[in-house]
Amino acid sequence: MSSHSYLEALAKRYLNEALINEKAGNYIDAAKLYRKAAEVLKLIVAHRPDDPLSPTYRELAESYEKKARELEENSKVKVPSSSVEDEDSKLIEDLIVKEKPDVCFEDIIGLEEAKQAIMDSIVYPTKRPDLFPLGWPRGILLYGPPGCGKTLLGAAVAHEVDGVFIYVSAANIMSKWLGEAEKKVSAMFRYARSISNERKRPVIVFIDECDDILGVYEQEIGGEARVRNQFLKEMDGLLDKGRRHFVYVIAATNKPWKLDIGFLRRFQRRIYVPPPNKEARKALFEHYTKGLKLSEDVDFGTLAEKTEGYSASDIRDVVMEAHLITVRELFQRGEIYGQPRPITMGDFLEVIKRRKPSISPQLLRLYEEWHSRFGT
Ligand SMILES: Nc1ncnc2c1ncn2[C@@H]1O[C@H](COP(=O)(O)OP(=O)(O)O)[C@@H](O)[C@H]1O
Ligand SMILES: [Mg+2]
Repeated sequence: MSSHSYLEALAKRYLNEALINEKAGNYIDAAKLYRKAAEVLKLIVAHRPDDPLSPTYRELAESYEKKARELEENSKVKVPSSSVEDEDSKLIEDLIVKEKPDVCFEDIIGLEEAKQAIMDSIVYPTKRPDLFPLGWPRGILLYGPPGCGKTLLGAAVAHEVDGVFIYVSAANIMSKWLGEAEKKVSAMFRYARSISNERKRPVIVFIDECDDILGVYEQEIGGEARVRNQFLKEMDGLLDKGRRHFVYVIAATNKPWKLDIGFLRRFQRRIYVPPPNKEARKALFEHYTKGLKLSEDVDFGTLAEKTEGYSASDIRDVVMEAHLITVRELFQRGEIYGQPRPITMGDFLEVIKRRKPSISPQLLRLYEEWHSRFGT
């Protein structure tokens, strides 16, 4: 390949990447790539100023630079013009996650199906909407026993997707003031739509323990039904306009049976987050003992076998408690500046003996039954 056709191919590649990033709303990256494409074109022109294509390349290079400047300007505008958005963002300020959570998909052990489903329905569509002409699901429900990674998955989405992350829980949205919670719900969706439409950035609304807010309970203090209805109305707004919004609602629950069918209907993807199987439990022991000193006799396979019914967070606790045994000994011996002895198999087994698994077979059956009826 001659050096020029190589450079031409390179410019084309940068341009292509720039377009993809621009479409996905990654304006800063897109601007950088436009500049790179321009740089390469200018290099070609400098090498052969008399070539008949040179004026065209020069013009193209200038137009890419202009584009890059526009994109940079655009992304600088943090607070957009409309005052509606201003007001809304004040009302829901405490819901918007300002710092990216420090969790990525690799930190989540097992749950391969759940992770893949999230990739397919959120991560890929935000990165390459052009590959999803039929659209993508807007509502995703994660359900399963406590302590198995639902909240963690939500945090990892925030980490993987370059967008705005809104975290909603009963604690931050329900209010003792009548009507306040509904107002917050509608402000939140208005804000999400405007970020998505005007700034082309994905918005992820994560509703943790959604049964607290949206479940149907016999004893209701008042206002719950109105919040629920407001929510459903907003979800419909996202679903039927036929517009390619980048607003996703992810809801997580330990009690999916508390949700009513109207709510479920709006969540096209329903993903079971199961307790860890033997293989995942083994990997969890390996994961959580990283950085700890272990005695030679520790056998993760056996530990995995003995922890049927333990949730991922149970296993993390077992490791912490076993470690604590060795630390406690150190303090009891008065060697507060020494190093604890390695953790032995005996330490782990002692902790496991004392600690009951948090997921009973009956509870598991409830989830599995629900899963076979309502899962997707
Ligand atoms: N799949 C997993 N891999 C690694 N750690 C996990 C996993 N699931 C849960 N944990 C640990 O347990 C804690 C609680 O998990 P969480 O995601 O809040 O559970 P859930 O929301 O399903 O009740 C997490 O902060 C993490 O330390
Ligand atoms: Mg949780």
